[in-house]
Amino acid sequence: MTLTARLEDLDPIVFRLVQRETQRQEDGLELIASENFTSQAVMDAMGSPLTNKYAEGYPRKRYYGGCEIVDEIEQLAIDRAKQLFGADHANVQPHAGSQANLTAYMAVLKPGEKLMGMSLPHGGHLTHGHKVNHSGQIFHSVQYGVDESTGLIDMDPVRELALGERPKLIIAGSSAYPRIIDFAAFADVAREVDAVFLVDMAHFAGLVAGGHYPNPVEHAQIVTSTTHKTLRGPRGGFILCRNEFAKAVDKSVFPGGQGGPLEHVIAAKAVAFGQALQPAFKEYGAQVIRNAKKLGEVLAQRGYDLVSGGTDTHLILVDLRHKDFSGKDAEEALGRAGIHVNKNTVPGDPLSPFVTSGLRIGTPALTTRGMCEEEMALIGDFIARVLASRDEETIDAVATEVRELAESFPLYISAATT
Ligand SMILES: Cc1ncc(COP(=O)(O)O)c(C=O)c1O
Repeated sequence: MTLTARLEDLDPIVFRLVQRETQRQEDGLELIASENFTSQAVMDAMGSPLTNKYAEGYPRKRYYGGCEIVDEIEQLAIDRAKQLFGADHANVQPHAGSQANLTAYMAVLKPGEKLMGMSLPHGGHLTHGHKVNHSGQIFHSVQYGVDESTGLIDMDPVRELALGERPKLIIAGSSAYPRIIDFAAFADVAREVDAVFLVDMAHFAGLVAGGHYPNPVEHAQIVTSTTHKTLRGPRGGFILCRNEFAKAVDKSVFPGGQGGPLEHVIAAKAVAFGQALQPAFKEYGAQVIRNAKKLGEVLAQRGYDLVSGGTDTHLILVDLRHKDFSGKDAEEALGRAGIHVNKNTVPGDPLSPFVTSGLRIGTPALTTRGMCEEEMALIGDFIARVLASRDEETIDAVATEVRELAESFPLYISAATT
C-alpha cells in the first residue's frame, strides 16, 4: 500500500531534490525581497489531507458535499484576514498574487476598458498592465512611473495622466519601490476621475499587518495581496474589499477565474494570519525595516547608490549605473558566494530586463532567521567585497564566511536537530 508510504521511501529521487533545496536554503543568505521562510506550522497545514477536498463555491454555498469542515477552515481564514487588516470583506481563494489581481480587475472592468498602473521598469509589477501580461492585453493599459531624478512617485504627473486618460481603475503597489506610497493622494486622484482605486500590497502586506506601513484598506476600495512575501505565509493570494464590491469580487474569483479552492493552502493562510495577529509579528516587521536600513547604509558607505537614497521598507534598490558591471554580473557573482539577490531594472535603466543596472535586496527572510543589524553589517561587507573584485579567490573566501554565518542561524533541518 503506497498511500501511507513517506516520500523518502516512495520516491527517493524527489525526496533528495527536496532535501537538497532545503539544504540550499539553509546554507545561503536569502536576500530576495519577495521571499521568506514560512513556519513549519504553515507547511504542516499545506501538506495535510485538505489537499484532497473539492469545495467549489464559498462557505455554506458549495457545489460539493462534505464541505462542513473546510467551511470552518475557510471562514476562519476570512475572519482572521478581515481582523488583521480591518477589512469589510475578504476572499482567500486566489491561488496566487497574479490571480488575485486579474480576478479583482475583472470584478470592476470589462475587457477593453482602461486601467492605470505603475510600469514594471519603474518598480511596478507585470500584472499592473504590462503588455506581455494578460492585464495589459485584456485591458487598455496606461502606465505611470517614478521621477527618474529622485526615484520617487511624483503625484503631479500621476494626476495629469489620470485626468488625460480617465482610467476606470487605478492601481498602486509595487515590487521594487523602497519608499512608502501615498495612498491618500492616489485615492484623491481616483475620486477626481471617478475610478476605482486598487492597492496591490503583495510586497508590504506583512509591514501593514505589523503597523509599519499605512493600511491601504483605509484608502482603496479593493486591496490585493500575496501571502508569501513579508506576510510569511504559504504561497498564495487574497483580496480585501469594501462591502459594495464583495459580490463582484467573489463572483470574479469563482466561477469567473478559478475552479476548486486550495483548502490546504487556505488552512495555511489561516495559520499565517493567526501568526501575524500576534505581538511578535509587529516586532518582526520593525526588525525587517531596521535591517534593510542598515544594509542600505553599509552599502552606501561602500560607494553604492541607492534608488531614492535609502528605504522605508523591507527592500533596497542598488543602482549600478556608475559601476563597470551589470545587475546580471552582480547577481551571478553574489550567487556563487551563496548570497541570493535578484537583478532588477532601475528607473531609466539603459539595459534590458535580462541584464539590468540594478540589484534588489530584501531582508524579510534573513530577519525570520533571526538576523539583526550586526549581521546586516557583515553581509553588507560580504556584498561589497564580492562586487569589488568578482574574482574566484574573493568569492571563495566570502562563501566560507557566508556558510559560517548561515550555520549560526539554524533553519528547518538544523533547527530540528539542534
Ligand atoms: C506587487 C506584486 N503583485 C503581484 C505579484 C504576483 O504574485 P504571484 O507571484 O503570487 O503570482 C507579485 C509577485 O512578485 C508582486 O510583487
